[in-house]
Amino acid sequence: MGIFIILTIVIIVILYIFSSPTLSPIPYFPSQKVDIPLIIKALNLTNNQTVIDLGAGDGIVIFAAAQEALKKKLNTKFIAIEINPVLLLIMYIKKIFHPNRKNIKIVYADMFKLNFKKLLTFDFSLLTFYLYISPWFLKKVITNINSQLATNKQQLTIVSYMYTIKSLKEKERIIQGKNKIFVYQI
Ligand SMILES: C[S@@+](CC[C@H](N)C(=O)[O-])C[C@H]1O[C@@H](n2cnc3c(N)ncnc32)[C@H](O)[C@@H]1O
Repeated sequence: MGIFIILTIVIIVILYIFSSPTLSPIPYFPSQKVDIPLIIKALNLTNNQTVIDLGAGDGIVIFAAAQEALKKKLNTKFIAIEINPVLLLIMYIKKIFHPNRKNIKIVYADMFKLNFKKLLTFDFSLLTFYLYISPWFLKKVITNINSQLATNKQQLTIVSYMYTIKSLKEKERIIQGKNKIFVYQI
């Protein structure tokens, strides 16, 4: 009986976290597994690069990309930004068992309030953002990235899963998977 009550409370808390507009303003949908190899191709992994997944979910992209970087003996760094505590917990657990964990950082933060310069305490001349967020939030995030980073000397690439970024249309390259992957080199 006691266990049943605890389980019910845990389920209610998890449901609340996933449906709360504060704790999960953008609903959690993982990138499609079948598209992961193409997403990794779009990230164009290389040495001295930092890849940031804004709203990383359970880390499906970050962990697969970190695995690939390790395979290629690259020193690429990966940062997973997430606001949902349940997904953060899943990522922390996954990180413990990941062979390239030293290059993976998991950060509890709101992507709309993120201070990129505080986050990137090392050389970040090659910066790649991965985004799988609703189109109406994409604009807000791109504005934030531009306002904080556009005047710096780093090479900035944005990879957007499924959704085009209208303001960057002239720089758009499309990789066709099950869903489209939009790549912008800024
Ligand atoms: C569509 S999912 C994408 C997950 C992951 N990037 C992937 O491709 O599988 C969007 C993610 O953004 C997270 N999220 C929503 N609002 C956020 C915010 N303000 N700051 C950080 N993460 C947020 C959600 O919890 C969710 O995991």
